Amino acid sequence: VWTTSNVVEEQIALIREQVGTKRAICGLSGGVDSAVAAALVQKAIGSQLTCVYVDHGLMRKGETEQVEKDFVAATGVQLKVVDAEKRFLDALAGVSDPEQKRKIIGREFIRVFEQAQAEIVAEAAGGEDVAFLVQGTLYPDVVESGGGTGTANIKSHHNVGGLPEDIEFQLVEPLRQLFKDEVRMVGQELGLPDEIVQRQPFPGPGLGIRIVGEVTKERLDLLREADAIAREELTAAGLDRDIWQCPVVLLADVRSVGVQGDGRTYGHPIVLRPVSSEDAMTADWSRLPYETLAKISTRITNEVAEVNRVVLDVTSKPPGTIEWE
Ligand code: XMP
Repeated sequence: VWTTSNVVEEQIALIREQVGTKRAICGLSGGVDSAVAAALVQKAIGSQLTCVYVDHGLMRKGETEQVEKDFVAATGVQLKVVDAEKRFLDALAGVSDPEQKRKIIGREFIRVFEQAQAEIVAEAAGGEDVAFLVQGTLYPDVVESGGGTGTANIKSHHNVGGLPEDIEFQLVEPLRQLFKDEVRMVGQELGLPDEIVQRQPFPGPGLGIRIVGEVTKERLDLLREADAIAREELTAAGLDRDIWQCPVVLLADVRSVGVQGDGRTYGHPIVLRPVSSEDAMTADWSRLPYETLAKISTRITNEVAEVNRVVLDVTSKPPGTIEWE
């Protein structure tokens, strides 16, 4: 019979058999899949696992702390955090084009991750023992890519003393037979916090693709505040399960006139993009209660300096994508 505790037991045995006495690395993104995969592997092989979290400075409010504190507290995992905010912001300076932003963020991410990996290999006594890379691949991903286990061939651009040019890792993919809702159940069984297990989808490039215009630290901080308010109110209204996700977007290149306090303002609009969906391939805009929208709008314009207008995106997908970039 399929029960989460059976799945956990079975996967733990399989992971132990596969990894043996070698070591493994797992990249954490803040998302459900990598967190549950890491927690499973941690349960199976304990300190033979090292997790890597690249802080690109594009996460939402509190998310990095969630990984650094709550996830570590719940699992006892060894975590290497790389603070790469400055590096990402420098690379993104002056860039407004969405595809360009995505490429830069992806490229920097791989570089930083590979460097961290190389350091872990170098630090481990007998570096060749680090032989496995854990990935949170789900069943739908397996089907989409035509199945088959692979190996990840990682080229180390940043050579750390005496490492081989290419490090070949074997993949550990303990979620390969599971769907998203099953992964959440397994995460719960493993004692992960709700904020991680029930997290709605969030794009890898993070808030970098939710600022229409150039990405700067000031704009990110502003968007983080607005996003935190929207999430807080949606949760307070009990709507988290009704919506698929709700991107909050800053139109940094747009200004409009407003009147706030005693005077005229010339600030930026924030867009709310609540959607309902089954699989993100298509989506409909969520008919949120007016009271909730009103609360979010009032709070954002009162609490976030520079924002004097909140607008609602009422476009389905297609024609609009869920994200604005
Ligand atoms: P779109 O905007 O294409 O988004 O309708 C569909 C779903 O994918 C998420 N998304 C991403 N997820 N890396 C990710 O991991 C990305 O680069 C990325 N871009 C979009 C988006 O949040 C939505 O759930």
